[in-house]
Amino acid sequence: MASVHSLASTVQQRLADALSAALPEAGSTDPLLRRSDRADFQANGILALAKKLKGNPRELATKVTDALDAPDLLKDVEVSGPGFLNITLTDRAIIETLAARAADDRLGVPLKENPGVTVIDYAQPNVAKEMHVGHLRSAVIGDALRGMLDFTGEKTIGRHHIGDWGTQFGMLIQYLIENPGELAPADDVDGEQAMSNLNRVYKASRAVFDSDEEFKERARKRVVALQSGDKETLELWQQFVDESKVYFYSVFEKLDMEIRDDEIVGESAYNDLMPETARLLEESGVAVRSEGALVVFFDEIRGKDDQPVPLIVQKADGGFGYAASDLSAIRNRVTDLNATSLIYVVDVRQSLHFKMVFETARRAGWLGDDVTAHNMGYGTVLGADGKPFKTREGETVKLEDLLDEAAERATAVVREKAEKVGLSEEEIVENGRYVGIGAVKYADLSTSANRDYKFDLDQMVSLNGDTSVYLQYAYARIKSILRKAEGVAPAAHAELELAPAERALALHLDAFGELLTEATAEYAPHKLAAYLYQAASLFTTFYDQCPVIKPEPPKDIAENRLFLCDLTARTLTQGMALLGIRTPERL
Ligand code: ARG
Repeated sequence: MASVHSLASTVQQRLADALSAALPEAGSTDPLLRRSDRADFQANGILALAKKLKGNPRELATKVTDALDAPDLLKDVEVSGPGFLNITLTDRAIIETLAARAADDRLGVPLKENPGVTVIDYAQPNVAKEMHVGHLRSAVIGDALRGMLDFTGEKTIGRHHIGDWGTQFGMLIQYLIENPGELAPADDVDGEQAMSNLNRVYKASRAVFDSDEEFKERARKRVVALQSGDKETLELWQQFVDESKVYFYSVFEKLDMEIRDDEIVGESAYNDLMPETARLLEESGVAVRSEGALVVFFDEIRGKDDQPVPLIVQKADGGFGYAASDLSAIRNRVTDLNATSLIYVVDVRQSLHFKMVFETARRAGWLGDDVTAHNMGYGTVLGADGKPFKTREGETVKLEDLLDEAAERATAVVREKAEKVGLSEEEIVENGRYVGIGAVKYADLSTSANRDYKFDLDQMVSLNGDTSVYLQYAYARIKSILRKAEGVAPAAHAELELAPAERALALHLDAFGELLTEATAEYAPHKLAAYLYQAASLFTTFYDQCPVIKPEPPKDIAENRLFLCDLTARTLTQGMALLGIRTPERL
């Protein structure tokens, strides 16, 4: 494992050295290096510096150029315009750097120097309820973030804060007591049966609850029994949880996502901590009693009529709610799990809740300056018509139906090309599944998370445009090129002169590590998606302009081009894997 300095960072360093040698009075200056169309890079930093030193920018730029002495790295440095530097690298430096990447199974991407512990709260459906598209977003975004963080060396711990507690369980459990056998044992059902059972019980119990005052009273008493840990009540509660998990797992499996049982730590897990959380908040004065409830006020958070909106820690009837479990979870995550960062992948509509929860935890000293907390709020999933995603009948779309349909459509796309590629029926179905699920994940990940996005299957499984299908086909195409190139193996040739399309692709591949560091630090999977899409586009241009197999180029050129093909494929498959998307070898 050897990390590789990117060409951009090496050039940046050389420029900074030249700047301080030529203009010691300047102090440390950022050369502001960018990729450029005119040369490989452009540096704009001298303009601002000239202003500061009241000098002539072109003269300063010339001085810096004269101080640059790196013939192995730099082919040409030209002062242009008002004082930019246009920088062209030697072909040798480019290929040698990529060869070093290729020799490393992490593609030369460095590990973080001081990795921390990030606890990611994501994929948090609710017990006895159908998962909706919002839960899908949380799962997909959280899983991708986690993949990216893990790759940089951060330690991640998942927390699936499922909704497994609350007054509705009084109603559900009481109904089950009065109608035994309505839920089959969790071992005997598959995901679909589990959900249909739970749905039936939910609807039926809600109906009695709403129409029968005496049942309502019994349900209320059942809540008390649950909270005081009554054995029979807890066992039935557990049955709802177990049955729901069968369903959750079936959806996560369809999503091709691994969820660990020990990381499913729902609201109920914090029950024992909640009274103490409330007591500590009250004793420290962070929370105050208001009309019997224990609440926290914030100067800057106001609702209608400019009335302050408080965070309710404990209700007047003594019950604890959502905020109390989240505050208790923070204590657990920081103190027991040693978290240095907390991420919550939760609908942006809950951002006010998290703002108040974080602020409360800071006031209480549970979140210190050394711990960051971030609500990665995601936007709403819209239908093709731009309205919140619903079926034609106005009902919420079942997640499983949606994933099945994505797989079905993708399978049709795969089947169309299957004969040419020689895929078996089994491979068609398997690839169809990966392409379908990939399409759904990628559509979610390729727009910045806080924006709403349109769920449009036609667009998602399209072979053209910014889709995972396009990326998966690009990958499979490269693999097929590598297979077809019989007798010629990928090999780097640093003595060759690179064509413009080769340079563009090569420099992009070299930037993978830096991009990843940036996208990870900003919790921005969409930046990784955009990078991969661009890699595939640059590859397409390269392949159009630079023959690899036919017409057959001289052997060294063919080998070098295959080397670029191979590194592109490895970069694509690595990047997609971090996003949780598979790249089949043959499509
Ligand atoms: N179960 C909640 C919902 O369906 C999401 C939980 C988010 N996580 C948290 N720590 N509050 O909306």
